[in-house]
Amino acid sequence: MIKVKKVSFCLIMLLATISCHKQTQNLSESEVITKEPMVKLLESMTLEEKIGQMTQYNGFWDSTGPAPKDGDAKEKYDHLRSGRVGSMLNVSGVKEVRKLQEIAVNETRLGIPIIFGLDVIHGHKTLAPIPLAEVASWDLEAIEQSARMGAEEASARGINWTFAPMVDISRDARWGRVMEGAGEDPYLGSLVGQARVRGFQGTDLSKNNTIAATAKHFAGYGFAESGRDYNAADVGTVTLFNTILPPFKACVDENVATVMNAFNTLNGIPATGDEYLQRDILKGEWGFEGFIISDWGSGAEMIAHGFAKDLEHAAILAANAGSDMDMESYAFVKHLATAVDSGKVDMKHIDDSVLRILKIKEALGLFEDPYRYCDTEREKTIPYHKDHATLVRNMAKKSIVLLKNNEEILPLSKDQKNIVVIGDLAQEKTSPLGSWRIGSDDGTAISVLEGFEEKGVKYKYKSGPALISQPASFINEVKINSDDRSGFDAAVKAAKKADVVVMVLGEHGFQSGEGRSRTDLGFPGLQQELLEAVKAVNDQIVLVVMSGRPLVLTWAEENVPAIVQAWQLGTESGNAIADVLFGDYNPSGKLPMTFPRDVGQVPIYYNKLNTGRPGPSDLVFWSHYIDESNDPLYPFGYGLSYTEFKYTAMKAVATGKQVEVEVTVANVGERSGEEVVQLYIQDKVASVSRPIKELKGFQKIVLNAGESKVVRFTLDEEDLGFFNTRGEFVFESGEFAFMVGPNSTDLTTAIIELK
Ligand code: BGC
Repeated sequence: MIKVKKVSFCLIMLLATISCHKQTQNLSESEVITKEPMVKLLESMTLEEKIGQMTQYNGFWDSTGPAPKDGDAKEKYDHLRSGRVGSMLNVSGVKEVRKLQEIAVNETRLGIPIIFGLDVIHGHKTLAPIPLAEVASWDLEAIEQSARMGAEEASARGINWTFAPMVDISRDARWGRVMEGAGEDPYLGSLVGQARVRGFQGTDLSKNNTIAATAKHFAGYGFAESGRDYNAADVGTVTLFNTILPPFKACVDENVATVMNAFNTLNGIPATGDEYLQRDILKGEWGFEGFIISDWGSGAEMIAHGFAKDLEHAAILAANAGSDMDMESYAFVKHLATAVDSGKVDMKHIDDSVLRILKIKEALGLFEDPYRYCDTEREKTIPYHKDHATLVRNMAKKSIVLLKNNEEILPLSKDQKNIVVIGDLAQEKTSPLGSWRIGSDDGTAISVLEGFEEKGVKYKYKSGPALISQPASFINEVKINSDDRSGFDAAVKAAKKADVVVMVLGEHGFQSGEGRSRTDLGFPGLQQELLEAVKAVNDQIVLVVMSGRPLVLTWAEENVPAIVQAWQLGTESGNAIADVLFGDYNPSGKLPMTFPRDVGQVPIYYNKLNTGRPGPSDLVFWSHYIDESNDPLYPFGYGLSYTEFKYTAMKAVATGKQVEVEVTVANVGERSGEEVVQLYIQDKVASVSRPIKELKGFQKIVLNAGESKVVRFTLDEEDLGFFNTRGEFVFESGEFAFMVGPNSTDLTTAIIELK
């Protein structure tokens, strides 16, 4: 034991001596580069220790208790002690983290600290809205602050690395993981990805309140065929380069520390074994300097994909393709050494991976102080900090999208008599937390009912039938109640006498997220029936929709006067919803994903290509459905306010290849409000057919009643160009349309010829 400790001390001395030399001696530039501390450390490592750095283990039971004597946990402890583990995930809490870090630092030969990763997706203890909901705010500053809060809380519990942001673009609401991303648009998705990276990483990764971020899942995961999670993705070069890759590139430009590869095959190659994606594009062309972590077991899953014949083969493929760290496949720890010995994996690949990992640990300050994130005082004060509640409440308000408000039924008056609230979700204190909430506790969301109470609003509540028939959990399928009608009639009866009925319907928080694809995008269980039964007795319905994805709300749109999209809004859910319903906050959210009229239209997205037969036509021979419109129910970028905005005086002027677009936006309503002014373009004729619209700019502005503002955008070649079929970025002169408006449909257009 004592001997081992001495060796760790040697590491510290070694690092100190090297950095001291760097400062005091006149070393040549190449010497400084080659002899930097992490290189020196790498040179002192055995192959087994190097592979250890490339291995990440999931946490195990009771790590603060005595070490187990047998089983998997014992093996993990043994590996930890022998320097065969470089990182752990799903360990949190200062005590737990410190215990494992002490083993790495004091008991291994070199004492290299562990990096602790966790899914800090939308907060940690205090939960912000699910990521998709946050994007509906189109408020990059607020999104950054939200990620910052997550980093503050998680870092106070020993975590120094999050597996976020997920930057997978997706056009398919069936895919449950749309809740974790930024929606369907690569421009918005890139800016949101960068904001989140800035929020997590701050300006100095070595501070004890900043954590390394991960852009995931590289690449194509959001294009899973038929919206079924983990399914194959098959996309052409143009879609890959123009739609899927830009948010990853944006995160790399923002210095994201790590990238996670994906479970899926992309064009037949499992992402974890894809050399083109990882070595050629990410580490090559883009110059990414951080490291690539596999997704959970994605190395081993290459066997099921029919790409690797066994685990050893999987290890070889992953390492050669540039996957640097193996999460829970056991492929590297079991087989990489043999693969290197037999020449199947070049040592230079191993060294490259290890150096990348060591450098991120160095950037986090772990070599200076491995317990930097183990501050018990911070742990006591930071999570659940009262400022965080205010922050997530603001974020939640901004995330709500007003979809319909006929006859200005909303906002409701707080003195409104006879409000009846209906729906099991109105009382929920867990579902609004969403499905990615590993650090938080059940039952900690403010329910809608509590939100009403906080405002002193009087109401009568009837839950109607239960939404779920068994307690829901992260790992099991949610069991929806479709036959127990208890409470149904009582709810309808109460609705009959109400002046206004607030119906809170939607998905359970565990119905979206990983492994939670759906073919039916309607309200689960008995909810649609309940909605129709209530409508039959009372027209005055305000529908509040909670969901982790766009749902099909066509019946509601046709029958209900007011609809509020309230996603899963996190800890302060009910307060934020009440703020909007009672007018303490004027809604400003805009949809980051198209809402379909019918699931059969999916994938449906605004930035589509035209067809040769866009129609409409009297004959059938045009691109359409015979049983449904082509149009979405609510387009991308759509959202109403309690006030009204008017767009006038739009013009676009070109100076060379630079274009200035301006528009006057006026608040012509009676209360102050925020508007997201959106700019779209279309390259009319190009060597590759271009989308009919592409978002290229937006500004969120605040306007008092009666106020107006000129909003200006400047675009240049970089905004107007695109990636061609060879993946090359080109700008092609010719005719361009510039479109400005409050969403992707209601636009004013100017056409300019660019030379
Ligand atoms: C998910 C990742 C996540 C990882 C670790 C996987 O199942 O796909 O997004 O970061 O688990 O929890």
